[in-house]
Amino acid sequence: MKLPLIAANWKMHKNRKEAREFCRTLIEHLPSRHLQHVLLAPPFTCLETVVEAVAATPILVSAQNCHGETHGAFTGEVSASMLDDLRVEWTLLGHSERRHVFGESDDLVAKRLEGALKQGLKVVFCVGETLAEREAGRTEAVVAQQLQPLDKMRDLWQNIVLAYEPVWAIGTGRVATTEQIAQVHRVIRSAHGSIPVLYGGSVNPGNIGEIMRLPEVDGALIGGASLDAGKFQAMVAESLKAKGVSEHP
Ligand code: PGA
Repeated sequence: MKLPLIAANWKMHKNRKEAREFCRTLIEHLPSRHLQHVLLAPPFTCLETVVEAVAATPILVSAQNCHGETHGAFTGEVSASMLDDLRVEWTLLGHSERRHVFGESDDLVAKRLEGALKQGLKVVFCVGETLAEREAGRTEAVVAQQLQPLDKMRDLWQNIVLAYEPVWAIGTGRVATTEQIAQVHRVIRSAHGSIPVLYGGSVNPGNIGEIMRLPEVDGALIGGASLDAGKFQAMVAESLKAKGVSEHP
């Protein structure tokens, strides 16, 4: 994994044909040294297609969720070994839609994190506060609580990337200010220094430059604006420029 990491969370979008076309466009327009900064998280149904489409490139492929157990009576779930069978090495965990729309508690998310890491998956672990929590001045406490499961997994930190995604900024067009982003990233880094931290929440081609110029930000997790290959490709290029990654090494 190369920093900055620009991750696309497609959520419940794209069929296999659309996924293939996206990958083809991206690969056609970005050189390999840029593609090594890209992670794609398609829905489960497109994982195999995307793994095949990017096989000759350094693009990373991630699931959007994963159960912590190896197998069992868990209707609707998939395990780390099932992802491994598809040659998928990464998963998102704790995304705010999982926490707040589907009711995954801190405890459940922690079990998923532990299970996934122990089974060898690499994890983009998402944390973030709701608007009510921010307005109550509880942002740092909420994030610290969500990050607590990491404490007993220090030996696996090298397989984790964190994503700070304020719930109120996801899919709302309402992006956090650079001061708000930098502040929370600093708090996260102070306790988890060696783990990269991405920012997510209404990142788009217009704001990615200033967000990525923050030294506290190691990359972006992009939802809505990642669905269009042209836009996504422009955001990768803008991020690398902001971080001073040379166009021509
Ligand atoms: P958004 O989603 O970019 O559409 O706000 C980000 C995410 O959910 O990871």
